[in-house]
Amino acid sequence: MERVVITESPEETMALGMELAQDLKNGDVVALVGELGAGKTTLVHGIARGLFVTENVASASFVLARTYRGKLPLHHLDAYRIGSLQELFEVGLDRYLPPEEGVTVVEWADKIHGFIPEDALWIALEFLDGDRRRITLRRRTRGRAA
Ligand SMILES: Nc1ncnc2c1ncn2[C@@H]1O[C@H](COP(=O)(O)OP(=O)(O)O)[C@@H](O)[C@H]1O
Ligand SMILES: [Mg+2]
Repeated sequence: MERVVITESPEETMALGMELAQDLKNGDVVALVGELGAGKTTLVHGIARGLFVTENVASASFVLARTYRGKLPLHHLDAYRIGSLQELFEVGLDRYLPPEEGVTVVEWADKIHGFIPEDALWIALEFLDGDRRRITLRRRTRGRAA
C-alpha cells in the first residue's frame, strides 16, 4: 500500500502521527526517512500523543534510544549516529527491531535498513515549499514489494 499526505504545518504532521498511532500494535516498527528538519521528530510527537505518552518526547539523537510509557511502550530510536550495523548490534538496538513489547519508531531508518523488519511501515518526509511537507507511507506486504 502507498499513501501520500501533504501537510501544511507541524500541527498537521502531528495530527497524522496521532492518526497512525490508532493502528499501531505490539511489535510494530515505523521507519522514518527524511533530511534534517523534514519533520521526523514532529511525527514521533504525534505518535506519542496518540499513544497517550505523557512524558516529553525529546530528540533521541544523543541517546540513540529512549522508551516512553503510553498505551503501548514507545521505543524512539535515532540511527543518525550509528556508524555501522555492527555498532547497532553492540549497543543492543537490535532488540527493538522488532520490539517484543510496544512499538518502535526509528529516525534515519535508511541508515540501518538491513535491520528494519520486512513488514515495517516506511514513512518518507520531504520538503516542499515553506512549511509544506510531502509524507509518503508505504507498507510492504509479506513476500512482495508493494
Ligand atoms: N509541515 C511540517 N511538518 C513538520 N514540521 C514542520 C512542518 N512545517 C514546518 N515544520 C518545522 O520543521 C521542523 C521539523 O523538525 P523535526 O521534526 O525535528 O525534524 P527532523 O526530526 O526530521 O530533523 C520543526 O521546526 C517544525 O516546526
Ligand atoms: Mg529528529
